[in-house]
Amino acid sequence: MRSKLVVGNWKMNGSRAANASLLTGILEGLDNARAKVAVCVPAPYLYQCQELLQGSPVAWGAQDVSCHPVGAYTGEVCMSMLQDFDCRYVIVGHSERRAYHGESNELVAKKAKAALDAGLTPIVCIGETLEQREAGQTMEVVDAQLDAVLEAVGREAVDKIVLAYEPVWAIGTGKTATPAMAQEVHAALREKLRACNADAAQNTLVLYGGSMKPDNAADLMAQPDIDGGLIGGAALKAADFLAIIRAAQ
Ligand code: PGA
Repeated sequence: MRSKLVVGNWKMNGSRAANASLLTGILEGLDNARAKVAVCVPAPYLYQCQELLQGSPVAWGAQDVSCHPVGAYTGEVCMSMLQDFDCRYVIVGHSERRAYHGESNELVAKKAKAALDAGLTPIVCIGETLEQREAGQTMEVVDAQLDAVLEAVGREAVDKIVLAYEPVWAIGTGKTATPAMAQEVHAALREKLRACNADAAQNTLVLYGGSMKPDNAADLMAQPDIDGGLIGGAALKAADFLAIIRAAQ
């Protein structure tokens, strides 16, 4: 059986004071959560997470990483830096990176491979825009996004990645895919993973993301192929994040 994973994606939010109070609130309210929990935070706060979360059940990670190992890439953060702060996860291919920073399927795939090579778990985001959904292209889009990653990481890594299906039209909009809509895509993704590596696909965690909140989390995560959530807005309030974690079990 796959365990559930709930990941907070803080995006470009936080301050030392706000993070300390959020993380303390999460740790205090966590009481024996069965779901796995992680927060992916802005790079400057990785040290603070390491200090506050080390030895706790909450893992931490980054929201992006360079595909290059080191060198003259101004403004970038590389994998060994994430290792330096004991990151377990790194989000790659978030739709905001794809849309605002022009990240291609190939670049995202390279980042996923580099993360695996460094011993980190990439949380690979895929998802269609509203326009693509309305044009009936959802599966075509997510297939191409996933294909690039599978090709780069290889079939033996099918259960070493975490996949996050995040319909772009549901991110930060308050519009969530219904549990049935999300399950339909998740089931198709699982089928695709199975075609690549049938045994491993049983263990791959496929998260849903896009306006997951305390009031819809339980229904979404009750779907057979939804293994947890990637949470944006609702991860910034300890009470909401904890409610989602509780809904996962
Ligand atoms: P949201 O963001 O929960 O605020 O919609 C999710 C995400 O972008 O990962």
